Amino acid sequence: MAVLTCVVILVLSLIAAAFHSHVMNETPIDAVSLTLAPYPKVEGVYARNNLLESAEKLGEGKILQPEDIVPDPTGKFLYVSTLDGWIKKLHLADNTVEDWKRVGGRPLGLAVGNDGELLVCEPTQGLLKVTEDEISVLATEVNGTKLLLPDAVTVAKDGLIYLTDATTKYSLDLHLHDTLEARPNGRIVVFDPASKSTHILLNDLYFPNGITISRDDSYLLFAETTTSRIRKHYLKGDRKGETETLTESLPGFPDNIHWSSKGDVLYVGLVGGPRDAVIDLLWQSPFLKSLLALYPSLQKLFDNSLKWAGVLAIDETGRPVKWLEDRSGKTVACVTTGVEVDGFLYLGGLRDGFVGRVAA
Ligand SMILES: *[C@@H]1O[C@H](CO)[C@@H](O)[C@H](O)[C@H]1NC(C)=O
Repeated sequence: MAVLTCVVILVLSLIAAAFHSHVMNETPIDAVSLTLAPYPKVEGVYARNNLLESAEKLGEGKILQPEDIVPDPTGKFLYVSTLDGWIKKLHLADNTVEDWKRVGGRPLGLAVGNDGELLVCEPTQGLLKVTEDEISVLATEVNGTKLLLPDAVTVAKDGLIYLTDATTKYSLDLHLHDTLEARPNGRIVVFDPASKSTHILLNDLYFPNGITISRDDSYLLFAETTTSRIRKHYLKGDRKGETETLTESLPGFPDNIHWSSKGDVLYVGLVGGPRDAVIDLLWQSPFLKSLLALYPSLQKLFDNSLKWAGVLAIDETGRPVKWLEDRSGKTVACVTTGVEVDGFLYLGGLRDGFVGRVAA
């Protein structure tokens, strides 16, 4: 009997070892273990709520998966980037949708430039400038390498344009590979419109996603999706050139970030979540992550993001001040962006066909 047990254990071990080496050899990623900072307890600001469940649906059926939203400076309409390659305008007086410009591809992050032009990140083309008259390409590469996943953009008063290139390794359709791999493949790039040139500001970032500049242009904030943190990079003053982590105890994985209209609060769209012990363990296991990259159908077991929405407001020190959820994804899910205009919070994301609106 003892011999039989030993044989069974030996055979099972051999099968497990063979499966392990099969996965590690065949997986398309080169994963490392990542330990996330603890996620917040469900209390205080983070007490359970369902504030997003009552969102109104604006432009339903006419705005496919709005990844990012920015208000026009007059506050009369919102620019919205959609899955089918459009920049649409959502007019706030009557909630009508205008098909404004078709840039093609999959436009992601948006910002309004200093001359009223719209800046658009579109991974297959690069950094675009869109005006009433034309669509032009501002930048396609930096330091001899292609912009592979330009994701979000912000503009300083001196005209410099800062954008995230989320990963230099995987294209948009494989962006989950980058997150599972958990290596710092991303960067922040600067485009100078005066010289029409680009340079790298920061390398070695973990899927840098949303980005925004402070009102006085003294620092940038950017979301790192893979590490679930918001980071701060100083552009001026004694600490110029330094980067620090503003907050890393987030309840989900951050995407676009936008200042409130007063500029006192930062709204963070959490595209994946809620974080839990299972996700944290997964992040620590190169084998499991390699398995999920090799067999994407297994990702459904871990990925709850199409059944959940979360938007977090933090102050400029990183302290949470407001937390909004749709805990079952009943109304909105997979929210990538939250933008406040006139006391309303507008929501865009990767599941729904409308812009959501709740009280901010
Ligand atoms: C730019 O490219 C060169 C040559 O490949 C490389 O040595 C250098 O480190 C790059 N600069 C940055 C900031 O990444």
